Amino acid sequence: METRGVVLAGGKGTRLGELTKVTNKHLLPVGPYPMVYHPLKKLVGAGIRDVLLVSGTEHMGDFVELLGSGGSYGCSLTYRVQDEAGGIAQALGLAELFCHGARAVVILGDNIFQASLRPILEIANQRPNDAFIGIKQVPDPGRYGVAELDGDRVLSIEEKPAKPKSDFAVVGIYIYPPDVFQVIKTLKPSARGELEITDVNNHYLRQGRLGSAVLDGYWTDAGTLDSLDYANQLVRDQPPSFD
Ligand code: DAU
Repeated sequence: METRGVVLAGGKGTRLGELTKVTNKHLLPVGPYPMVYHPLKKLVGAGIRDVLLVSGTEHMGDFVELLGSGGSYGCSLTYRVQDEAGGIAQALGLAELFCHGARAVVILGDNIFQASLRPILEIANQRPNDAFIGIKQVPDPGRYGVAELDGDRVLSIEEKPAKPKSDFAVVGIYIYPPDVFQVIKTLKPSARGELEITDVNNHYLRQGRLGSAVLDGYWTDAGTLDSLDYANQLVRDQPPSFD
């Protein structure tokens, strides 16, 4: 089945204070690159050539200026505007026409991965009709979606739980079969007013169609002052692999 990539670079970036007053979070530096290069280069490095970038109205022009057609980065880029930051699942819903029957490899624009995504795509390819998530042990699971595990089987996923059932965070790389867009249409906004990607993943879990794998290498988000600082430190000390 054909595979297409989606980089989600919308949202409000409110946790970065003055740093995002006039620019978008994903344009801030992480190592020698604007943040958005990291997820984009990861997709291209894993062999994905058609990529949709979703962002809000305010900074879409900056992304187009920076990335253009994608040709300089080894891919063909398409852009879609998310009018309001209505959640990760809502942003992904905008990829329906772009994906038209292909599988979607979705990556959050503020996630920094060290290792190649190829191994995870290869595992996911064995079950093309299932969804697939990456998980990673972290010291502060309550900041993330958290997977409750029995051995390597996922039992449940909770979004930012006050009492995490494990220290395995669900990271920002998701692989979905074409019916994900039907699933998104059934979602209701969460308490924080967003369509949650965790609800999408729990839907596949209930259907017995969710695979998972523990990621190699370091991983962090870069959406808070502390994690942005940490991401820069990681990338400087051990540059990520882009193949
Ligand atoms: O980083 C991994 C975590 O990302 C997961 O463990 C959580 O389950 C998932 O909900 C998400 O948590 P956050 O609350 O930290 O996500 P955030 O709001 O920072 O959004 C992450 C990226 O998604 C952001 O860089 C841009 C994109 N996004 C987000 C929203 C809310 C959009 O494109 N549109 C949106 O409306």
